[in-house]
Amino acid sequence: MKKSNNKIWGGRFSSSTDQLMEEFNSSIQFDKILYIEDIEGSIAHSEMLSKQKIISKNELELIVSGLKQIELEISNSEFNFSLELEDIHMNIENRLIEIIGEAGKKLHTARSRNDQVATDIKLWLRKRIDQIELNLKSLQRTLIEKSEIYYDLLMPGYTHLQVGQPVTFGHHLLAYVEMLGRDRDRLGDCRKRLNELPLGSAALAGTSYPIDRHFVAQKLNFSKPTENSMDAVSDRDFAIEFMSVSSLIAIHLSRLAEELVIWSSDSFNFVKLSESYTTGSSIMPQKRNPDAAELIRAKPGRIFGNLLNLMTVLKGLPMTYGKDMQEDKQPIFDTAKTIDSCILNMEGMVKSLEPIPDKMMEALQKGFPTATDLADYLVTELKIPFRDAHHLTGQVVMLAEKKESNLENLTIEEIKTIIPNAEITILDILKIESSVSKRTSYGGTAPVNVLQAVKKAKERFLKD
Ligand code: ARG
Repeated sequence: MKKSNNKIWGGRFSSSTDQLMEEFNSSIQFDKILYIEDIEGSIAHSEMLSKQKIISKNELELIVSGLKQIELEISNSEFNFSLELEDIHMNIENRLIEIIGEAGKKLHTARSRNDQVATDIKLWLRKRIDQIELNLKSLQRTLIEKSEIYYDLLMPGYTHLQVGQPVTFGHHLLAYVEMLGRDRDRLGDCRKRLNELPLGSAALAGTSYPIDRHFVAQKLNFSKPTENSMDAVSDRDFAIEFMSVSSLIAIHLSRLAEELVIWSSDSFNFVKLSESYTTGSSIMPQKRNPDAAELIRAKPGRIFGNLLNLMTVLKGLPMTYGKDMQEDKQPIFDTAKTIDSCILNMEGMVKSLEPIPDKMMEALQKGFPTATDLADYLVTELKIPFRDAHHLTGQVVMLAEKKESNLENLTIEEIKTIIPNAEITILDILKIESSVSKRTSYGGTAPVNVLQAVKKAKERFLKD
């Protein structure tokens, strides 16, 4: 049989692929990382082929041992990847035929690269989702432990990055524990929807071989086979979902990263970041730059970019598979890798940071953070309508400002110049500790609440 194109699919071709096109068309440069999943899928597929008597037991044994050898070759970097063979699927299949001969040519019975690649990506992503989820949990643990230590450490709570009301450092950190908890839920949802097996959908229409898709689904730990062969080979919504969740995680981490940058700056000096997560400047010897935090602040650019990339690739794609879909891999791989390294670095930073309580207190006092407490006191104790109370409190703040004092250090005489019937108990109201300890409403910042919240967070997020 004369062939002018010796590719696996070259039977109906009379001339060879242009070299430029060969490079453009191939994905092996990046999809080789799917080799473990590709082999896992192929083994399950061939076991099913043998069970269904589509191939013999002997052929199955040959295929499985060949595939295991290939797995070893690749993990030992002894495998010769070929651009000409386009992708990981054909590289492995070709090598299998080289090793075991005729039986290797039967592996691709009743499947196509279209259902194969969708399966490989799902298997790969499922592992990454599990790992990311675990790492998020570990970051939560670190945040919760810090919150427990600093459950009553006072710091300014901000709105508009202006001092608003005093809060505790523990309460502030627990806010991130909540965000990450929702992210973990979202990952779980995504995993659930992803967990249907595409293999056996073949090219697009299913197959006439008597295959058993439920058997393969079970072997590969999928909850069930996909319901529609055309959908199965042509959608990557599960990847878009993963990248959306990753974008949210990136948003949350970037907020904390930005706070670490602010807190560790000379002007704030609320926390000291460990030297393991900061760098020096090549020119300014005094510097300790929060590089890890800045990188986490920047990574959403990349993660959102990947999401937009894949959404754009998929929009308007007619059914079913199009080569366009080969473009899914790099953004998926990059997102999983990037988000995971952000989580790990964030955990390292949080674990090793040390708060500087004096600096937090200094900033607190400068910000008149108990002004709301004073206004509330005027309303409840002196029966002054809130609008008037707000105005009077503003005048007290102005007085403190003029005297370059904080609210706590004003004397009762000074306050009486503005609020004549003020009583001595008002001085207590102006104290930062008392402001915080009164914030006992559900979800509030009072240290007793924070301790309670820590306990609950351990149960909600760290069990099993
Ligand atoms: N490398 C391809 C991809 O990543 C595999 C599927 C190719 N299928 C095809 N009909 N050309 O999408």
